[in-house]
Amino acid sequence: MFITFEGIEGCGKSTQAKRIANRLERSGVSLILTREPGGTLIGHDIRQILLSSNNRDLPPLAELFLYEADRALHMAGVVKPALAEKKWVLCDRFFDATTAYQGYARRQDLHMITHLNEMASFGITPDVTFLLDCPVSVGIKRALTRNAESEEVGQDRFEQEKTVFHEAVRRGYMDLAKKNPERFVVVDATQAESPLEAVIFSHLKAHIPLSRSA
Ligand code: TMP
Repeated sequence: MFITFEGIEGCGKSTQAKRIANRLERSGVSLILTREPGGTLIGHDIRQILLSSNNRDLPPLAELFLYEADRALHMAGVVKPALAEKKWVLCDRFFDATTAYQGYARRQDLHMITHLNEMASFGITPDVTFLLDCPVSVGIKRALTRNAESEEVGQDRFEQEKTVFHEAVRRGYMDLAKKNPERFVVVDATQAESPLEAVIFSHLKAHIPLSRSA
């Protein structure tokens, strides 16, 4: 199973990906929890470049290629090998983020992005994509609180974007969910962590071998 978690800044997807990974492990599922960008050693460096507020004027096309380069490395080095070993792969963001952020919000050509996404992911598509949806105001508030509590200084390049940017990202994700109903599950991310985890887990239970669902 290849499962991805998506949503706007501060939607809570990283927290949920961790909670679900723990719960699946307790149910006996062999899995890896990974993320984009930054799921490999080189990808970690690419992530720094992409998120650093020193790189505010990174051209959109260069930004797009960096995400796809990170993806190609991550697929070849981490995701494909894990799937080949029959492990479940839980990924915190994947190619839908490129369509939503670089396509809908940065207005790069959507056909080009679809093609690049296919190339960088070696034609592999997630089995399930959880879209954690919440209003932009809620997400931004959470992201700001998280930053205030974290040791990292300041907001990253994307968190500094204006509301209209995040609204475009949200709209992009919603369009993707409408166009790909066979793999998207849209969940209400304004809920508290524990009930949200229960909703997400309920969609995965049936896939757990021998129904060892915790
Ligand atoms: P994160 O917030 O999930 O750690 O992701 C880092 C940032 O990268 C976030 O602002 C979303 C952005 N992003 C893109 O713009 N395009 C992509 O393809 C991916 C994977 C992430």
